[in-house]
Formats: sequence, structure tokens, C-alpha cells
Amino acid sequence: MGPVQIKEDIYWVGALDWDIRDFHGYSTPKGTTYNAYLVMDEKITLFDGVKKHFKDDLLKRISKIVDPRRIDYLVVNHVEPDHSGSIPELVELLGPEKVICSPMGKKTLIDHYQREDWPFHVVETGQELKLGKRTVTFFETRMLHWPDSMMSYLNEDRILISSDAFGEHWATSQRFDDEVDSAELFYHASKYYANILLLYSPLVQKLMAKFAELGISPAMIAPDHGVIWRKDLGGILSAYGKWSRQESSRKALVIYDTMWEATARMAEAIGEGLKEEGVDFRLLNLKYIHRSDVMTDVLDSRAIVMGSPTLNNGMMPAVADMLTYMKGLKPHGKVGAAFGSYGWSGEAVKLISEWMREMNIGMVGDGLRVKYTPTKQDLDKCVELGRQVARAALALEAGKAPA
Ligand code: FEO
Repeated sequence: MGPVQIKEDIYWVGALDWDIRDFHGYSTPKGTTYNAYLVMDEKITLFDGVKKHFKDDLLKRISKIVDPRRIDYLVVNHVEPDHSGSIPELVELLGPEKVICSPMGKKTLIDHYQREDWPFHVVETGQELKLGKRTVTFFETRMLHWPDSMMSYLNEDRILISSDAFGEHWATSQRFDDEVDSAELFYHASKYYANILLLYSPLVQKLMAKFAELGISPAMIAPDHGVIWRKDLGGILSAYGKWSRQESSRKALVIYDTMWEATARMAEAIGEGLKEEGVDFRLLNLKYIHRSDVMTDVLDSRAIVMGSPTLNNGMMPAVADMLTYMKGLKPHGKVGAAFGSYGWSGEAVKLISEWMREMNIGMVGDGLRVKYTPTKQDLDKCVELGRQVARAALALEAGKAPA
């Protein structure tokens, strides 16, 4: 696949990674892309590199437009190695006049590659650079996704090269949002947000406010992963507004692992209680569902009920993994509860409750434990717990404090 023109003299020259299945703990069943953009102006400029092993793909695509050694400026919007891994070799091969990055970008590039001799050109928020006919404005976007992150805005073309934000981990031969299935696109975008950006939601809100303040109104958003938004910009901007406000739906998740099916039966009964009170639910057995798919569901869920049997005075490893991952991503505005079966010591439920309280989840009760296998009375208690969680979720929806 060759380069793709996205506008006159502006090309996608990135790389497709069809094979990657794990992106630092996030499952990528459909691979990903490392987007890079070439602008042919008086100063030929390459925005972003690719992951180290995809350097040749990038160079081949560039070569179909221009000899890569004619590139004048190399912009590094973000130093995470999925974008900067190829930068040391690119600097050697291209010999650019400038390596353009944020102040933190320079520091982080030196920390990664120990090359203080590169021709750094440091830019700060609002700073402009003439390429010829075009002008680029740079915006530092610290922590979206690393402290070094920035975005580049091509003023005349109204193209926002947005680095990690507005991306998806999805390898496709199509390059634009209007060429792919919209429902699938928004699913990948939501998974990306839930697993990469959720914890930085307050910064996403500030970024959107900054766009409005500076009158930035892109005609295209070109992220460094996934497809380029040229049609449904309203849709993705509105989704980022909703996700960053952590708006939830009338939906509950019952997330659990089970040893001998007792905790699974409790989960089913809790689901019954949720549904009886009008709250839709999903049962997510961590034996079969990846943590990052669970997080995608967490994004718009209002209630989270977590269950584990007790194993060796603790919880099942998959539940501990899920709690660790979820805690780091800082979901908020949820209610929940803990449950699980036990044989003799039964610590799991207490430990899960403590962990969920640390996540500021409004907990319903102190957790429900069942010895060995649930009786009819135990299952009735599970149904009642589901009802209580549902009522707490509805109270939250109505603007009342969590139970
Ligand atoms: Fe796509 Fe934060 O790197």
C-alpha cells in the first residue's frame, strides 16, 4: 500500500501493524496503525515517526513522493516508542535541519536516546512555524498521553495532527472515517479512550475548551493511530466531550471470576435483581474477557459489581489484575458492590470492597459472601443485592448521592 494523499501536498505515510495483539496491556485484536504525515512545502516536513521496526515501511512510502533525504523538518509530537522508536535512525538517514518538539519532548527524547546533538527546535503552545505556503501552530498537550505530547495544527488546511488523542488501535487499509463502518469505528475509539485517556479526562476537557478559546475548528483530525476524521468530526468531538465528562448510561457490569461456579451463580442472581429494577447489565467473566474490553464497558456503565471467591486468603488473580488496571484508569461517578463465595477464611469480598472504595465507587453495603455453594436463600440475597445496586444507580442518575 502506497502513501495516501489527504489534501493537496499532504500525505499519510505511516505504517500498518496488522499483527500486534497487546499494546501495553490493551488487547488489539485488529492490530494498529502508526500514522505519520508528510507535508510537501518549501520546507518538507514529516510529522511523527513510527515504531522502530516499521521504519522501512515509512521510508518506502515517503520515497514514492520525494527522496526522504530532502526532508527539512522532523516534528516529534510524542516520544512514546510507538512513534519515536524510528526517530534515531530517521535523524541519521534524513539529516533534518530541525527536530521540532515540545520542551518536555526535547528532555524526553534525550532521556530515551541520549542524543543532545540533534538539531532541536523547541516549540511551546501557540508558537507558529512557517513551512512556506503553510504555517503550523503547536499546542502542548501534556499527559495526552505523556508529559512531552503536543499537537500540530496546519492553519491554512485546518488539519489537526492530534498525536494519540482521537485515535483508535485498528489496522485498516482505509484511511478515512467515511470509508469504514461507523459503529465499529466508534467502538474502537471508545476502547482507545477508556484504556489510554480516561484517567486524563480533566485534561481532555481543558483541551476542548482551549480549542474553543483559540478558535481552532479543524476540517480534519489526523491522529497517530487509526483513521483520519474528515466527515464525522462532530461525532468524535461530541463523544470526547461525553467520555471526558464520564457520562454513564443506565447500565451495570457484574465482573467476576469463579472457581467452582458458586460465584458465577451469585453473579447471575445479582443480574436478575438489577434487571428487575430496570437496569441493564452484562456479566463479564474474567476467564473469557480481556481487561481492556471490560474497561470499554466500564466507560459508560453506572454500576460495577465485582466478585471473586477467596483463594489463598485473597482474591482470584484475574480480579486483582482487573482492579489494578481499573484503578489506574480512574473511572468515576459509579456505584457498586462486592460479592463472592468462600470456604473458610473468606477475605476476597472485604479486599475487593476496600479496593473499590479507594476508587471512590459508592459502595452498596459491605459485600455479600456465601459459604461454599449458594442456597436458595443465598441466591435471594444476591437478587436483593442486585436490586439495591440498581436503586443506587437510579438515584445517581437522578442526581442523588450514591448509597
Ligand atoms: Fe501512541 Fe502514547 O503513544
